[in-house]
Amino acid sequence: MTLIADTSADKWKTSDRTAADRKWGSQWQTFTSFATQALVHALQPRPGMRVLDLACGSGDPAIFIASAVLPGGHVTAIDMSADILQLGADKARAAGLANLSFEQADAQSLPFSDGSFDAVTCRFGVMFFPDCVAALRQALRVLRPAGRIVLVAWGPYSQGYFQHTIGFLRAHAGLSDEILEADVPQAYRFSRPERLAAKLNEAGFVDVQSEFRHGDAVWPGDAVSLWQHFLDTSQTFRPYFLRLSEPQQKKMAAEVMRQVSAHFDGAVIRLKGTIVLATGIRP
Ligand SMILES: C[S@@+](CC[C@H](N)C(=O)[O-])C[C@H]1O[C@@H](n2cnc3c(N)ncnc32)[C@H](O)[C@@H]1O
Repeated sequence: MTLIADTSADKWKTSDRTAADRKWGSQWQTFTSFATQALVHALQPRPGMRVLDLACGSGDPAIFIASAVLPGGHVTAIDMSADILQLGADKARAAGLANLSFEQADAQSLPFSDGSFDAVTCRFGVMFFPDCVAALRQALRVLRPAGRIVLVAWGPYSQGYFQHTIGFLRAHAGLSDEILEADVPQAYRFSRPERLAAKLNEAGFVDVQSEFRHGDAVWPGDAVSLWQHFLDTSQTFRPYFLRLSEPQQKKMAAEVMRQVSAHFDGAVIRLKGTIVLATGIRP
C-alpha cells in the first residue's frame, strides 16, 4: 500500500489551516450542522454539566455545547494547534460565552485529573489521533463514573460531496480503498461504525453504540465556493490532488463543480451527509 496522504501530526500546525478556517468557518458550520445536532442530541446537555471537547478546532461544536450547559455548566475545549485555539477563543468571546475555555493539549495525554468531566465529546477529530485507543483511555480516565463519551466521525467517502472530490482522486490519482480504509490518521478511518465501537470497547468503555446517521449537508454558497473550500482545507488528501497533472486538476475542478451544481438552488447546495455517531459510558 502506498500511503501518500499526509497523516503526520504536523499537518494541523499550519497557519494556512487557521486562515482557511477563518475564511470558511461559517459555511462549514452550516454544512456540518446535521452532525452537530446528532452529537448534541446524544450528549443530552443539561445545566451544570462539565464537558471536555477533544480536537475542538475553532470551537465547533464546543461553542454550541457551552450555551447548552448554562447556567452553571462549563466546556473545556482542547486542540494541539495553538492558532486554531485562538480563533476559537475569539469566536467564544464574540458570542459572549464565559463558560468555555480553550487549552492546548494532545488528546493522547490529557492534562486533567481523573473524573473531572461529566461528558467528553469529539466531532471529526477521533480519526486523526495517531494512537486512538490511548486517547480514548485518557477520555475514560478524565470522565466521572457513568460519564458519557460522544464521538462523531465521517461515514464512507461515497456520500454527497466527497463522492465527487475523493471519488475523482480515487479514480485518477491512485487513492485506493485500502488507503481510505486504513487504520491510520485519515478522514475515513472510522467510516464503518464497528471500527469505532471496537476502539471504544478496547479502551474500556461499556454500553458502546456506534451507528450511521444521515442528514442534509447544506452549503450556503455556489459550486465555485465549495470547490475552493476543498482546495483550502483538504490537508489529508491534498498530496493526491497535487499528483494530478495540471489538465487533470482542471478536469477535476470542472467535474466536481458540474456535479455539485446540480444540487444548487440559486442560494445553497443541498447534499446528503453520512456520519458515524458513537457513544460509550465509563463503568
Ligand atoms: C477536522 S478538525 C475538527 C475540528 C472540530 N472538532 C470540528 O468538528 O470542526 C481535526 C482537529 O483535530 C486536531 N487534532 C489532531 N490530532 C490531535 C491530537 N492528538 N490532540 C488534539 N487535537 C488533535 C487538529 O488540530 C484539528 O483541529
